[in-house]
Amino acid sequence: MKSKYYITTPIYYPSAKPHMGHAYSSIIADFFARFKKISGNDVYFLTGTDEHGQKIERAAKQNNKEPLTFCDEISQNFKNLSKTLNLSNNDFIRTTEPRHKKAVQHLWNILEKKGEIYLSKYSGWYSVSDEAFYTEDEIEEVDNIKKSKASGSLVEWVEEESYFFKLSNWQDKLLEFYEKNKEFILPISRRNEVISFVKSGLKDLSVSRKSFKWGITVPTNENHIIYVWLDALTNYISALNYPDTSHNLYKNFWPANLHVIGKDILRFHAVYWPAFLLAADIKPPLRVYGHGWILAGDEKMSKSKGNILDPLEIIDKYGLDPLRYYLIKEVSFGNDGNISKEKLENCINSDLANNFGNFIQRVVSFNEKNIGLKIPEKGNFNNKDLKILSVFEKEYNNLVNFIDTQNLNLYINFIVDNLFAANKYFNDEEPWNKKNDLKRLNTIVYVALELIRKFALLLYPITPDTSLKVLKIFNMNENDINLATIKNHELNKINSKINKIGILFKKIDKND
Ligand code: MSP
Repeated sequence: MKSKYYITTPIYYPSAKPHMGHAYSSIIADFFARFKKISGNDVYFLTGTDEHGQKIERAAKQNNKEPLTFCDEISQNFKNLSKTLNLSNNDFIRTTEPRHKKAVQHLWNILEKKGEIYLSKYSGWYSVSDEAFYTEDEIEEVDNIKKSKASGSLVEWVEEESYFFKLSNWQDKLLEFYEKNKEFILPISRRNEVISFVKSGLKDLSVSRKSFKWGITVPTNENHIIYVWLDALTNYISALNYPDTSHNLYKNFWPANLHVIGKDILRFHAVYWPAFLLAADIKPPLRVYGHGWILAGDEKMSKSKGNILDPLEIIDKYGLDPLRYYLIKEVSFGNDGNISKEKLENCINSDLANNFGNFIQRVVSFNEKNIGLKIPEKGNFNNKDLKILSVFEKEYNNLVNFIDTQNLNLYINFIVDNLFAANKYFNDEEPWNKKNDLKRLNTIVYVALELIRKFALLLYPITPDTSLKVLKIFNMNENDINLATIKNHELNKINSKINKIGILFKKIDKND
């Protein structure tokens, strides 16, 4: 039986066009989903849009649209983006769907029945842009304007009747939960931040609002709208058919293995979400990974800062796989990173065109001229052949372990180092000088082709389309992808005829 693996992206606010930060969260999650799939797991991958709350209500108003009409349009942009990014998601949830509303109200009823929710009055600061409540200590005044220190977004004073969730009751239980589940929050630096936040004391959390209408109503009091984060977080189970806990999706895939999120929404996922679930007697997810930000210069890329790089424009100009490769390789996973056209062009030229693409072209055209597009007989491997091939067998388990702890950096380093070694192998072995020793020439080409097959499999979670093109050399398609086969030398088994393929990555001429 295959292990089940449930992975999610954050659900995006459709308040504006998607930008590179959103594309980043999705591409990262897709990497893990695809990796898990090809290493033998039964994967369920969810993405979607977070459509309620004041932020969306105001955005709709600014556009002179009814909230739902507005959401229908912009949610579609995100749906289209998930296609453009070649996400392998199984579902796309919208929080305006009836299935979601049903789940949220059910969860609310459980919490209220268990005495975890009570009615009182909220007076304090609220940021509509973050949909978050802030304490006095968490805000600052800049040019007479009160802002959140963490996000820089504007806060407003709110005073109204509100339901509260007894978050303060969960402080010790959460700390115990983090202690027992040491890898619940990754990377470790973020875990420490969360633990010190919880240790500093949790206050009860306002979970309903009265001053606007756009959202899911409290089932027991229709004057109140459920706090958009309680609503949004529930998407991770509503998409599995919660509250029908006997449904196969829920039974098989909850608790989630991994929520991929940005570090700005860690508190909601690592504190509020497990507290809501524990309070409702539902298992919390197994892991929350808070990745870094995509910066423009030194600043977070965001709509409010007006420094957005449009993923569609980049993909149009450079193609999708180069962008996916760049974001996974050049942004050190867990940290903030930069993207600029210049850096992307350098990466395409050096890694994709020179190191990867060129290697394939050289090997295949050498094969065509000297062997006639066939998989050659492998002779006896010498030490150099064995050395370069055996790394994959030796490291396979490590690679799987890297990904189990989201150590994306070690995974990509492994590929880059070995691609470099593969190029060096082909240069050093000089098959073009072995025309008098056809056995050796054949063996070198065999090894090089094996390496190409292994790289195509390893790169599939990063650059899926490119990998599929490369695998066409060996007449392989998506269904044939099994990562564990990088441990073996399989080419003779697969097919004896090979195919030429076109140029994978064009070098970018900086003078163009
Ligand atoms: N709707 C909430 C999430 C609810 S999840 C139950 C939300 N939406 S968002 O559209 O504002 O952001 C979604 C994701 O995009 C977050 O993970 C956020 O961190 C990520 N990014 C937004 N800007 C970003 C960068 N500049 N860089 C990297 N990711 C950032 O928050």
